[in-house]
Amino acid sequence: MRLEVEITGKTYRSAAGETHEVLAPLKFALQSGEIGVLIGPSGCGKSTMLRIILGLDRDFAGHVARPPKARIGMVFQEPRLLPWRSVEQNVRLAAPDASDAKLAELFRILELDAHRSHYPGELSLGLARRVALARAFAVEPDLLVLDEPLASLDDALARRLRDEIATLVASRSVMTLLVTHSLDDAIRLGDRLFFLSPRPARIVQEVPISIPRAERSEAELAGIRVGLASPPLESK
Ligand SMILES: Nc1ncnc2c1ncn2[C@@H]1O[C@H](COP(=O)(O)OP(=O)(O)OP(=O)(O)O)[C@@H](O)[C@H]1O
Ligand SMILES: [Mg+2]
Repeated sequence: MRLEVEITGKTYRSAAGETHEVLAPLKFALQSGEIGVLIGPSGCGKSTMLRIILGLDRDFAGHVARPPKARIGMVFQEPRLLPWRSVEQNVRLAAPDASDAKLAELFRILELDAHRSHYPGELSLGLARRVALARAFAVEPDLLVLDEPLASLDDALARRLRDEIATLVASRSVMTLLVTHSLDDAIRLGDRLFFLSPRPARIVQEVPISIPRAERSEAELAGIRVGLASPPLESK
């Protein structure tokens, strides 16, 4: 399976009638089992790009080839849960075929056991994000799209979930596109990092990381970090 993205342009028209160019021409592809990471300044167009890639926004110039019949798991930047459904119902609605055992495992991993019958209005943002992750994982996706999924989680939980994402990708050859502002998450998870310019986003640099995820030692990660440290690659 392969995802091919070739966007030649995307503009938004403001309420006042002005047009804003959000995406410049950009092109990349992802293979099964690969994690591509998008890193770029706030407002550069990352979420816009994800919506286009998912087919939720068709108002752009270019072409996106998604694998046919791919099951898609998506974590939006805001958790977007149905407020009138419980945590468990939110996940089951998205993944009606998921077994009870599979859901139980996900709720355990994401530490949501105590919250299954709670409603989204009763959750903290970090809890709601975990529910959104459970929902995306429950569909057993072929294409997983994650828009800053680890924001507002404490360090320990974010580290664990990062490892869970890596495990999921390894177990099912999931093709993953991850947006993050964390260089650390990017180099621990990514196979290919795409550094984006300020709006309109274009790919300033594509950095492949050839060491398999599971084999990246702290020393090697430090080396990768040093290699990326020189401007203009720092996105923060
Ligand atoms: N529906 C819309 N109508 C008009 N402009 C929009 C719309 N959605 C986004 N924009 C504008 O497009 C630009 C890119 O927005 P986008 O949400 O894609 O950025 P982002 O890279 O995801 O930022 P962040 O890191 O803060 O999430 C911004 O300038 C934003 O104001
Ligand atoms: Mg965004």
